[in-house]
Amino acid sequence: MKILQTQNLKKHFPIRSGVFLQITGYVKALEKVDFEISEGETIGIVGESGCGKSTLGKTLVKIYEPTAGSITYFDPTGKVHDITKGLRKDVRSIFRKDVQMIFQNPYDSLDPRMTIRDIIREPIETHRLFNTSQAMDDYVRELLTKVGLDPDYGKRYPHEFSGGQRQRIAIARSISVKPRLLICDEPTSALDVSVQSQIINLLKQIQRENQMAFIFISHNLDLVYHMSDRILVMYLGNIVESAPSTAIFDSPAHPYTQALMSAIPSWNPTERKLKDVKLEGEPPSPINPPHGCPFHPRCQYRFDACSTVKPDPVMVSPGHICACHLHAEKQKDEKIVS
Ligand SMILES: Nc1ncnc2c1ncn2[C@@H]1O[C@H](COP(=O)(O)OP(=O)(O)O)[C@@H](O)[C@H]1O
Ligand SMILES: [Mg+2]
Repeated sequence: MKILQTQNLKKHFPIRSGVFLQITGYVKALEKVDFEISEGETIGIVGESGCGKSTLGKTLVKIYEPTAGSITYFDPTGKVHDITKGLRKDVRSIFRKDVQMIFQNPYDSLDPRMTIRDIIREPIETHRLFNTSQAMDDYVRELLTKVGLDPDYGKRYPHEFSGGQRQRIAIARSISVKPRLLICDEPTSALDVSVQSQIINLLKQIQRENQMAFIFISHNLDLVYHMSDRILVMYLGNIVESAPSTAIFDSPAHPYTQALMSAIPSWNPTERKLKDVKLEGEPPSPINPPHGCPFHPRCQYRFDACSTVKPDPVMVSPGHICACHLHAEKQKDEKIVS
């Protein structure tokens, strides 16, 4: 059963300047994103910094209002809700429990004035999971143990903990209400390398033990590959490729995905007889994105159409979609031959 779906989702942030703060342009963080996630699925979202990954996550959990397009939420009873414009009262409580998000920086996400117990108890109280205070406290201790922390840490404050421990606390808080979907936005990139794999293992354990759906966001394709059933590759606010993780690994179709892959030593494209594509320079600004294919200025395979016509997504094999003129051309040729 589906949990969330977007259609033509767009998010543009206005840029204001001058004394009267007039709008002088827009940061085009998301352009026409079609996305869906079902119960139990893990979707990885990958792409360089600034390509719109966090904006997509925050728009999905309704931190940001979309500029255009739609977001549909399928509640646990199967009812369908259009949540594009705000959350109506009747869906707010259930949506807020059902869809949780953890963020990159565990230093910002915990209220420094609250004890760990109160931080974790807050959503449990809001959603009235237990009748007695004792039952809630017991559950908080159980959650702390589950995320690998001493249950007596509940009495302490966030500043007493390291980044890795804080991320564990944020995870305990987010899974306390048993969400159907947990969105993890670069959950380890602000942490020391030595604790990154511990947090990844904890998330994997949670994934195994609960039938939760995950959206796993990272700029690291290797990490995303190891966490996800399906991968979406983003570039300048667009999904340029979407496929099962194994298909991304075995036969990446978009030159951008091939470039991300070539940068991972253990994926060695030459050894695997795949294209070895270099990625040079930085992505262009999302304020003035290029015409045509957003990747064309950096693409070594570009031809005339790439700078004028934006490629539509085409199916390169079942479940494997890629927005690149090379594949559209190939399909045209095949049709002519057949
Ligand atoms: N609240 C905001 N206001 C204005 N611009 C934003 C805001 N959030 C993100 N952006 C811009 O939108 C683009 C996408 O950002 P983001 O979604 O954070 O990318 P990523 O998570 O992939 O690094 C960037 O150019 C960023 O500067
Ligand atoms: Mg981000």
